[in-house]
Order: sequence, then structure tokens, then C-alpha cells
Amino acid sequence: MSQSLFAEVDRHFSNLFQLEDAVLKATESSIRAHGMPEHSVSANQGQFLQLLARMCNVRLMVEVGTLGGYSTIWLARALPEDGKLISIELEPEFAAVAKRNLEAAGLQHKVEVHTGQAMDVLPTLELGESPVDLFFMDADKPNYVNYFRWALAYSRPGSLILADNVIRNGRVLDQHSADEKVRGVRAYAEMLATETRVHSSVLAQVGEKEYDGLAISLVK
Ligand code: DHB
Ligand code: MG
Repeated sequence: MSQSLFAEVDRHFSNLFQLEDAVLKATESSIRAHGMPEHSVSANQGQFLQLLARMCNVRLMVEVGTLGGYSTIWLARALPEDGKLISIELEPEFAAVAKRNLEAAGLQHKVEVHTGQAMDVLPTLELGESPVDLFFMDADKPNYVNYFRWALAYSRPGSLILADNVIRNGRVLDQHSADEKVRGVRAYAEMLATETRVHSSVLAQVGEKEYDGLAISLVK
């Protein structure tokens, strides 16, 4: 079995379920047009994130790593009319592209895009008494453990804490890796393995985005 087969099957289901509308297609195109990293989740992964969001009746979500807003759109479409998604992006130029895509999606009233290093931005968020129902980390891997700590502190029983890219084409196995991204996701999984306040599972994913995985943690 090969990567080309995995990608073809991914596209098969994406086409069969007609997952991408014009707004999502234009969002992916904008990412290519601006020369941004092509690290958005795939359509099937986006649909899966949205399914998870619906399953925990999201009212408030936080995403770290907006990029062009592709996963942001998938997640925000699970929100009720008065729900909110706070998405944090390090690069101001990426955040500007994402804001335009979110406006095209008619989601600007539900999504706040903040610019900066997430570990600086998170403490400034004024969430009041509202718990974060779903936290999606999809940015700098070395900070995943820190994002988890913040997310857990603002969670409720039943909240989901999700982390993208924890397999990295299998490079997660390399215990001597010098790659800070591999080291970051290895540390994250090791932390989850002993963290008793959540139930966790790593979902391996293959498809257009090669071989990677989503860590899913349900807060007890
Ligand atoms: C990388 C980051 C991502 O969020 C992703 O989905 C794939 C790759 C990266 O930084 O290598
Ligand atoms: Mg990712």
C-alpha cells in the first residue's frame, strides 16, 4: 500500500460526501496563492474535527495555529449562533488571510483571530466563567505540553483537548530525534500517558496529508 492510494481514497470520500464547498476550496487556494505552508487538515479530517465538536456541544472553542482558517471554518460551523471560537496565529500575514476567509464564510461574528505567540495570548483571554469545550492545538509542537496545561485548567468534564501531527510519518518513534517538532510530540504523548485527569487515544490518520495522527483527550 502506498501514499498515492491513501491520498486517492481520501479524495474518494471527500468527493463522495461533497465535503468541500466553494468557501473551503477558496480557503485552500488562498493558502497556496500566498505561499503559506500547506499544513491545513484535509477535508475528511476537517469533517472529523467538526463531528467531535458537535459531539461535545461546543459553545466555546480555542484553536492554536489558524494558518489560513481552514480548520477554523470546519470547527466554527459546529457552533450555535451565540457560540465563539478563539483562534490564535503567530504570523500577522497568515492571520490577515484567515480573517478574509472567515468573512467569506460568514463566520466573522463567531470567530476571533488573535495574533501572537499563543503562550503570550492565552493568559490575556477573558473567558469569564465559560469553560472551553474544545481546544485544538495545531501549531508549534514544542509548546504542546504547555497548551495542554492551559486547556485543562479551562476545561469542564467532557471537554476535548486535541493535538494535530503527533505521528509525523512515523518519526515519533525516533527517541534520539534532534527535530524539535518530533521531540515536542513525543513529550506530549509521554505526558498524556501518565495524565490521569483525561482519557486519551491517538488516532492514526493516512490520506492526502500523508501518515500522521490526532491525539484526542477527553477531560474526566
Ligand atoms: C507541520 C505542521 C502541521 O500542523 C501539519 O499539519 C503538518 C506539518 C510542520 O510544522 O511540519
Ligand atoms: Mg497540523
